[in-house]
Amino acid sequence: MASAQEINNERFNAEAASWDTNLTTVESSNKAFEAIKRLVPAFSNGTSKNLDVLELGCGTGLLSIQIAPLVRSLVGVDTSDGMVNAFNSKIANLPNPSSANLAAVNTLLENADDVHVQGAAAALASRRGESGHNQPYRFDLILSHLTLHHIPDMPGILRVLYQCLRPGGMIALTDFEDFGEGAVLFHPEDKRPGVERHGIKRSEMQEIIDGVGFNTVRVETAFVLKKKVEVEKGKPEEEREFPFLLCLGERD
Ligand SMILES: C[S@@+](CC[C@H](N)C(=O)[O-])C[C@H]1O[C@@H](n2cnc3c(N)ncnc32)[C@H](O)[C@@H]1O
Repeated sequence: MASAQEINNERFNAEAASWDTNLTTVESSNKAFEAIKRLVPAFSNGTSKNLDVLELGCGTGLLSIQIAPLVRSLVGVDTSDGMVNAFNSKIANLPNPSSANLAAVNTLLENADDVHVQGAAAALASRRGESGHNQPYRFDLILSHLTLHHIPDMPGILRVLYQCLRPGGMIALTDFEDFGEGAVLFHPEDKRPGVERHGIKRSEMQEIIDGVGFNTVRVETAFVLKKKVEVEKGKPEEEREFPFLLCLGERD
């Protein structure tokens, strides 16, 4: 039997080419971008250009490409090679790709020294003229949008993200909220296999992030997305509202 990860990879590889044509998906990335700018202090206090960013589940780069001009560098990771290829083709088509400050790698992030992440961070550092880095690369900000609901071991991934941060770095992770019964409707029935949970739970996320050792943890509603969903098989779709949570935490 295929694992959830294999089901996901197959699904996202198949959807990669048309991913950016889904207007609701694009809207959710735009709303996540606005929420991150509003709630991550570096974007309002003029220091965002110092940030090296890691993005978990970057997909085709809908969020990454908006964030990149505001920061120093961005490394995206994603388990679907189709999504990563779509991301990197966009970068290759930029007017000056060899000076781009972002790149994506196809990897399942299981430790902070992941060779693919280290390789991408080193390549971006060398593009901006840095040479000789004795220590593994670490990040100032970790983002993730619409991906946590696919990850089986939530405490496990948060421990890895903690290790990926420099001291003083922070996470800002967005996903739809498991607000109860209606949350399952976020995915149509044919896309539910491979979904680990129907949204993230506010109190559970707060507890897990606290438990991993982050400081100043906040899990709050960042925005609401309206989405047409199939409430009953064979009946016309209905518009429903899905709240999205932003999970913030800092490493000492
Ligand atoms: C719903 S898509 C969101 C993509 C992108 N963030 C966006 O909003 O357009 C979820 C993404 O997470 C990726 N993904 C699933 N499990 C993952 C994991 N364990 N680590 C990294 N990426 C993962 C999928 O391949 C897919 O690209």
